[in-house]
Amino acid sequence: MAIDLLLGLQWGDEGKGKIVDVLTKKYDVIARFQGGPNAGHTLEFEGIKHVLHTIPSGIFHPTAINLVGNGVVIDPVIFKQELDNLAPFNIDTAKSLLISRKAHLILPTHRLLDAASEMAKGKAKIGSTLKGIGPTYMDKTGRNGIRVGDIELPQWKETYTALRDKHLVMIDNMNVTLDFSIEELDRDFFAAVEYMRTHLAFVDSEEYLSQAQKNKQRILAEGAQGSLLDIDFGTYPFVTSSNTTAAGACTGLGVAPNKIGEVYGIFKAYTTRVGSGPFPTELFDEIGETMGRVGHEFGATTGRARRCGWLDLVALRYAVEINGVTQLMMMKGDVLSGFDELKVCTAYNYRGETINHLPYSLNAEELSPIYTSFPGWKEDLTGMHEANELPQNLHDYIAFVEDFVQVPISIVSVGPDRSQTIFRTTE
Ligand code: IMP
Repeated sequence: MAIDLLLGLQWGDEGKGKIVDVLTKKYDVIARFQGGPNAGHTLEFEGIKHVLHTIPSGIFHPTAINLVGNGVVIDPVIFKQELDNLAPFNIDTAKSLLISRKAHLILPTHRLLDAASEMAKGKAKIGSTLKGIGPTYMDKTGRNGIRVGDIELPQWKETYTALRDKHLVMIDNMNVTLDFSIEELDRDFFAAVEYMRTHLAFVDSEEYLSQAQKNKQRILAEGAQGSLLDIDFGTYPFVTSSNTTAAGACTGLGVAPNKIGEVYGIFKAYTTRVGSGPFPTELFDEIGETMGRVGHEFGATTGRARRCGWLDLVALRYAVEINGVTQLMMMKGDVLSGFDELKVCTAYNYRGETINHLPYSLNAEELSPIYTSFPGWKEDLTGMHEANELPQNLHDYIAFVEDFVQVPISIVSVGPDRSQTIFRTTE
C-alpha cells in the first residue's frame, strides 16, 4: 500500500496541521518525518484551538496511530509539555503515539548553542525559533548525536554528560553572554526523558511502517515547515536544517521512493514568512498589514508577527515540481475577501531579464516580482461549505493557479475550524 505525503509548499505555516486533522479519518497511521518543536501545527474543532509541535496532527482521532519518525528531532522537555496539554482529552498516548528509536534528541545545550549562534551572527541571524534545531541536526550529521534508543542503554547518562560538556566548552568559546543554570536544565531534561521512557512506546519505526504497509494500513506522512525552508532547495542560508521536501519523507521514515502515492501540497492563497531571508512578494503597506491582521499571522511557536505578501506562483510551481505534488490544498482563501484587486507573481525580473523559474538568489537587489492582477471579491467565505457557493472571482483565481502549476486544487479552506473546509473533488 502506498504512503501519501502532506507537505507545505511555502515558508511554513501553511495550515498543514488542520489538513492532516481533516484527512486523518482516511488513514490508520500519521507519521511525522522531519523538523521538531520549531513547528507549530494548529488544529481547531469544537471551539478549542490546539497547537502541536512534535506530536503528529492525527492525535485527536481515536483510531489513528501517530508515529514520530527517525528524521524528527525531539526535545523531551517540550514533548512532555505537549503531552501534559493533551491530558484533559483522555488520549491513550501509550498506545496511539510511537517514537522512533532513531530520532535524535535535542539537549538543553543544543538550545543554548542555537541562541549563541544567532547572537554571534548579529544582523545576519537566521531568525531561528531557538529550539535547538540547527545544532541538533549538526550533531546528527557530525555523528555526535544522541538518539531516543540511547535512553534505553545503561551508560545513557555518561553519553549525555559527555556531549553536554562538549557543548558547554563550545558555548564558552563563542564569547556571548547567556544566562542559564545547567543544574536546572539537566534536572528538567532528565525528568522529561524518564517520563518518555516510562510512558511511551519506542519502536524501530522503519520496520513498523514496513509491516503496516504489508498489512494494507493507510499511512500519511506529515511534513513540517515548508519547501522554501528546505536545507537544500530553500532560500539558503535562511532555511531550517532538514529536508522539508518529499525526499525528506523517504529518509525521515525509511520509506522507498516507489512507495509514495499521493503528494498533497498545502499553500496559502497569499504568502507569509517568519524570520529573516528574502521574500520577493512581501508587502510593506496597508494590504500586507490587513492580511496579517485578518489572517492572525502570528507564529504558533514563537508568537512573532509573520511577514505577508502576494501569492508567488513561480515559487509555488518550483515547490510543486521538486515534491511531485499531485493535489493542492489552498488555505486561508477567506483572508483575501474584501480587497479590490489581488495580485499573483507570475515571473521575476532577475538581473535585468524576465525569468520564469526560481533563480539562485532571491535577494531584492537582484530580483523583483512581475505581477498579474485579478479583481477581488467582497463575500465573507467563512460560512460557506460547498464549492458552488464560492464567488466567481475566487473560482477564476483558483483556475489561474491550477493552470499555472498544472495541478488541481482539491481543498479550499475558508477558516481555521475543521468544518470550514470545502472539497472541490468528490473523494
Ligand atoms: P529553525 O528551524 O528554528 O532553526 O529556524 C530557521 C528558519 O525557519 C527561521 O526563519 C524560522 O522562522 C523558520 N521556521 C522554522 N520552523 C518554522 C515553522 O514551523 N513555520 C515557519 N517558519 C519556521
